[in-house]
Amino acid sequence: MAVHHAPLVDGFNRRISYLRLSVTDRCDLRCSYCMPEAMQFLPRKEVLSLEELHRLALGFIARGVTKIRLTGGEPLVRRDVIELVQALGREIGNGLEELTITTNATQLAQHAAALADAGVRRINVSLDTLDRARFEQLSRRDRLPQVLAGIAAAKAVGLKVKLNAVALKGLNEGELPTLIEWAHGEGHEVTLIEVMPLGDVDGDRIDHYLPLVAVREALEARWTLTPSEHRTGGPARYVDIAETGGRLGFITPLTENFCAGCNRIRVTTTGQLYPCLGGGEMIDLRGALRSDDPEARLAAALDEAMRIKPERHHFRIDAAGAAPAQPRHMSVTGG
Ligand code: GTP
Ligand code: 5AD
Ligand code: SF4
Repeated sequence: MAVHHAPLVDGFNRRISYLRLSVTDRCDLRCSYCMPEAMQFLPRKEVLSLEELHRLALGFIARGVTKIRLTGGEPLVRRDVIELVQALGREIGNGLEELTITTNATQLAQHAAALADAGVRRINVSLDTLDRARFEQLSRRDRLPQVLAGIAAAKAVGLKVKLNAVALKGLNEGELPTLIEWAHGEGHEVTLIEVMPLGDVDGDRIDHYLPLVAVREALEARWTLTPSEHRTGGPARYVDIAETGGRLGFITPLTENFCAGCNRIRVTTTGQLYPCLGGGEMIDLRGALRSDDPEARLAAALDEAMRIKPERHHFRIDAAGAAPAQPRHMSVTGG
């Protein structure tokens, strides 16, 4: 079969230019809305090697992917991840425009300088609270000081930091203004996220589900929010806050669907391509990668992924005790 390098366009005429590549499903935290305490991780032998991840990423760049985000799990718990960042960093300007990472920042202090040296310019850090006891309650680990040190280290080496906070009713709801004010004071953007029904957790997510319209109303009572035209190509919609001088994003999968503008696909650490975070459609790339004709097989697999990418997710979180919309945890698909 002839190998071709046509851009990736799906059946709904969406140009796919953004790859979210998970480098591990493991994590050193156990955020209660994300995974159970006794989370079962994938056997290490299933996971793609560094060299395979690199080859895969190059295959996507050849098909017009201009932005790669390394995700997990927690990407920085994978020992060789910096080597991958360095290898991909060399592609910046060669088709790749942006290389980023989403991290919980527990180990960011050790790695911030290496990330910046490799060409990373901005990173997204998951942080739901600034209260140490609350952090431990939410993540089941007492690591807030390390996270704050990681964020400070990133700032010190010139990385632009965006904070992602999942808004949780009765948990961090009351602290969101404090988090936003602090972040903006530090020069960081913040994006709030609605909790999504992905994989089983120990409790019931609906107990803490908080529609962001409610958060927005509460913030509007306090501050002046002006809708912003700023876009990153991602699902967030932004406002500028006059009083804090910063930007705030809202990611609203449950209350305001944004799938029409989707530009992304995801690959898990075992090489499974999921064209939608909220869909069951999957293409195995590991088999293609390990075949006799990887280039042609990969090209065909990507074409197939474009054919099966669904129009939208169908998340619902309104029925107590209902099964998750997808059995895969966010940490497997890579956020
Ligand atoms: P930038 O816009 O480049 O900053 O990145 P991003 O917002 O795409 O990435 P980030 O890792 O900050 O994503 C934040 C969170 O938004 C993810 O962890 C998911 O929870 C959610 N998210 C991102 N992409 C999608 C998507 O395609 N569908 C849904 N439902 N949620 C998404
Ligand atoms: N719903 C919404 N966000 C989630 N995250 C993890 N699990 C979920 C979920 N079920 C968030 C993390 C992090 C990002 C990678 O995904 O808090 O910000
Ligand atoms: Fe780890 Fe992120 Fe899941 Fe928290 S949300 S357990 S930091 S993967």
